[in-house]
Amino acid sequence: MDLLLSLFCSIIFLHFLSVNSRDSPPLAPALYVFGDSLFDSGNNNLLPTLTRANYLPYGVNFPGGVTGRFTNGRTVADFIAEYLGLPYPPPSISIHGTVLTGLNYASGSCGILPETRNKLIGTSVRNMQFHFHWLFKMTLKQNLEKEYGSKKELSAYLSRSIFVFSIGNNDYLNNYLQPHQYNSSHRYTPQQFAQLLVDSQGLKSLYNLGAWKLVVFELGPLGCLPSTIRKSRSGGKCAEETNALISYFNNGVGAMLKNLTSTLSGSTFIFSQVNWLAYDAMVNPSEYGLKDTRNPCCTTWLNGTLSSIPFLEPYPNRSEYFFWDAFHITEAACSLIAARCITGSSACVPMNIKALVQI
Ligand SMILES: *[C@@H]1O[C@H](CO)[C@@H](O)[C@H](O)[C@H]1NC(C)=O
Ligand SMILES: *[C@@H]1O[C@H](CO)[C@@H](O)[C@H](O)[C@H]1NC(C)=O
Ligand SMILES: *[C@@H]1O[C@H](CO)[C@@H](O)[C@H](O)[C@H]1NC(C)=O
Ligand SMILES: *[C@@H]1O[C@H](CO)[C@@H](O)[C@H](O)[C@H]1NC(C)=O
Repeated sequence: MDLLLSLFCSIIFLHFLSVNSRDSPPLAPALYVFGDSLFDSGNNNLLPTLTRANYLPYGVNFPGGVTGRFTNGRTVADFIAEYLGLPYPPPSISIHGTVLTGLNYASGSCGILPETRNKLIGTSVRNMQFHFHWLFKMTLKQNLEKEYGSKKELSAYLSRSIFVFSIGNNDYLNNYLQPHQYNSSHRYTPQQFAQLLVDSQGLKSLYNLGAWKLVVFELGPLGCLPSTIRKSRSGGKCAEETNALISYFNNGVGAMLKNLTSTLSGSTFIFSQVNWLAYDAMVNPSEYGLKDTRNPCCTTWLNGTLSSIPFLEPYPNRSEYFFWDAFHITEAACSLIAARCITGSSACVPMNIKALVQI
C-alpha cells in the first residue's frame, strides 16, 4: 500500500503555450529534470519498484501513449521543454549513448531523505538532491565531456542549460504524515523537519559542476489532495493543518534559493511559487477554466484515495479537472502551472523562464 501512496506527481499545464517552431534554434541547449513522480517520464519503469504508471489510463493524452508519466498527458517539465524548443528529456535510465538536449532523472516515490523510500539508492546518500548531483556528474564525465572539445565550450553549454527540480512531496505524504510507519513526526517539530529537508548541498554541488540556471518548484497544497481530504475530517475542504506544515518547507526553500543566488557568482536560482497558484485554482476553479478541483478525474482505488484503476475509461472532460488521481494533477493543471512560470509575472521569482533564458 505504501508504494501506491507514494504516487504523487505534481505539476501541470494548458494547451495554449507557445511552442517554438522546429526551424528556430532552441532557447537553451538542454533541459535537465530532477524530481519525484510529478516529473518522472519513465525511469521507474526500469527500476525494481511497484510505483509505476505503466498502464492506461495514465498517458491517455500523451502523444505516444503510456510512458510512465503519472498523469494523463504532459508534465510541467514537458511543457517547459516545448517552450524551449527541445525534445521531452528522456528517462536517463533508458539512455546509453549521449543526448545533448537534456535528460530526466526523476523517479516516482523518491523523497529528499533516504528513509523516505530511497531504498534503491542506499543509505550512504545523504539526501536525494545530492544523489541527483551525483547522477548528473556521471553524465558529465561519461558523455558530455567527450562531446565538447574544450572546457570553455562545455562551460558555455552548461551555464546556458536549464535545470528543474521538484522534490519533497513524499517526505511529507509518505513519511512525516504517516506516523504509524515513520517516527519523524514524533522526533521533529514541523519547523525542525522542514529544516532537515531544506539542504543546499546538492544544489551547490550542481552549481560547482557548471549549472547556473536552476528552477526549483515549491510543494503544492498537499492538504488539498483528494487523498488527504478524504482521509481527514475536514468536511470535504482542504486540510489546512497539512497545508501549514508544507509552508515551513516552502518558506525555507525560498530563503535558501535567494541566499544561493546572492552567494554563488553567476547563478540564478528561480523559486517557482506554485502553492498559492494551485490553492487559488482550488478555490476559484472557473477563473482557471476548470470545473472540478476536488475529485480525481479518473476512477481510483479506494474511492479517490489512491492511484488510478487500470484500464477504466477516464472521463472525457478531463481538461476540466485539476486532479488526475488521488495524488497527481492533470495535464490541464500542469499546463496552467508551466504557463504561469514561463511567461507569468508572479509564479516564478525573481524572474520567469522567458527572462531566465535571456540572461
Ligand atoms: C525512529 O526510526 C528509526 C528507523 O527508521 C530508528 O533508527 C530510530 O531509533 C527511531 N527513533 C525513535 C526515537 O524511535
Ligand atoms: C546563506 O548562506 C551562507 C553560506 O552558505 C550561510 O552561512 C548563511 O547562514 C545563509 N543565510 C541564510 C539566511 O540562510
Ligand atoms: C465529467 O464527465 C463525467 C462522465 O461523463 C461526469 O460524471 C462528471 O460529472 C463530469 N464532470 C464535470 C465536472 O462536469
Ligand atoms: C467516496 O468519497 C466521497 C467524497 O469524499 C464521499 O462523499 C462518499 O461517501 C465516499 N463513498 C464511499 C462509499 O465511501
